Amino acid sequence: MEVSGIKVRVAEGEFWTSKQRDGHSLHEISYRACFKPQLPHFFLEHLSRPGDWIYDPFSGRGTTAIESGLLSRNVITNDANPLSALLTIPRFFPPARDELHKRLEDIPLVPETEPDLDLSMFYDKKTFGEISAIRDYISERQKDGVYDELDGWVRMVATNRLTGHSPGFFSVYTLPPNQAVSPERQKIINEKLQQSPQYRDTHKILEKKSARLISDLKPGEKLRLSEIGRKGIFLTGDARTTPQIDDESVTITITSPPFLNIVQYSKDNWLRCWFNGIDGEKVAGSLTLTPTVSKWEEVMGSVFKELYRITKPEGHVAFEVGEVRKGSIKLDEHVIPLALSAGFECSLVLVQTQNFTKTAHIWGISNNSGGTNTNRIVLLQKN
Ligand SMILES: C[S@@+](CC[C@H](N)C(=O)[O-])C[C@H]1O[C@@H](n2cnc3c(N)ncnc32)[C@H](O)[C@@H]1O
Repeated sequence: MEVSGIKVRVAEGEFWTSKQRDGHSLHEISYRACFKPQLPHFFLEHLSRPGDWIYDPFSGRGTTAIESGLLSRNVITNDANPLSALLTIPRFFPPARDELHKRLEDIPLVPETEPDLDLSMFYDKKTFGEISAIRDYISERQKDGVYDELDGWVRMVATNRLTGHSPGFFSVYTLPPNQAVSPERQKIINEKLQQSPQYRDTHKILEKKSARLISDLKPGEKLRLSEIGRKGIFLTGDARTTPQIDDESVTITITSPPFLNIVQYSKDNWLRCWFNGIDGEKVAGSLTLTPTVSKWEEVMGSVFKELYRITKPEGHVAFEVGEVRKGSIKLDEHVIPLALSAGFECSLVLVQTQNFTKTAHIWGISNNSGGTNTNRIVLLQKN
């Protein structure tokens, strides 16, 4: 294809398979608009080596970071949403099952003070008491300066189990865990489905989900991940300004940016923010939710300049752009000129095509319109 008078090679095919089970169990934390681990895996295998530094400026649940850690690469992550680091760091330090069991026994089942929030449309009284007690426990541990990796794990798994659509979650039936609805909306769902929240044993759920997350973990991986996690740089901030990252230190950046204003990260995450004591409004203000392509380009132009600074000579950026507004906006065509003006060369656009048999999701948006899904990845190099 030709972009701004420059010929760009396009490679199209099924470069990795879509089977969820092909990914390591440690990835199975839901996050709106996350990509599958097969995507970073592909680029890590081809364009990096063990020990290299790998970066994701829009890290989300940390898919690039976890896959990098599993492949013995060093990691740097950044995201404007503080939930990202809370969901990522603990998975570098997965606990043994008995260790977790003991820690849960230390956590009271009733909160010290009555919670000042009505979430009765999501939880029955006892369940909400347990959730609030976990929340209080975490905040006490932080205040006392004794918060450790195991607390981080409990917090991460609990955050992931807050709401969902099966008894494996703390809540009554609701939308999937990465799209919390408002209390008013939940009341309507309850009425429609004629349901009311039932008791859920939160500690049992935490143990069960933890066991699933670590089920693929091989003995050597645990040690490797913890070594990488200790060296890792986990940033919370704007991808345009990352002075903590050294010049020319990153071998490859593998990322997918926020898209125009399609996915409302902070609105979807309000309950997760409450549980973690995060000011959701403040987070909303720091996220890039640009309604127009030109505003989006302005932000991404600065991001590419920053990526150019931190990328090693001959290093790469794999920049995943989805199909926005049913393919009417081809973001790759907007990304390439921005990257070129930051100094990068565009090696190729890789189009990953997958056949699917049931409803698939890209960027959290259902795609029932055809028999294939595509990921478009702009591959850039610094020469
Ligand atoms: C498409 S998601 C990335 C998902 C990620 N690839 C994963 O697998 O979870 C985009 C992320 O960009 C973050 N974000 C939005 N604006 C940002 C900004 N200006 N700087 C840094 N992160 C930002 C959002 O919080 C969101 O987590």
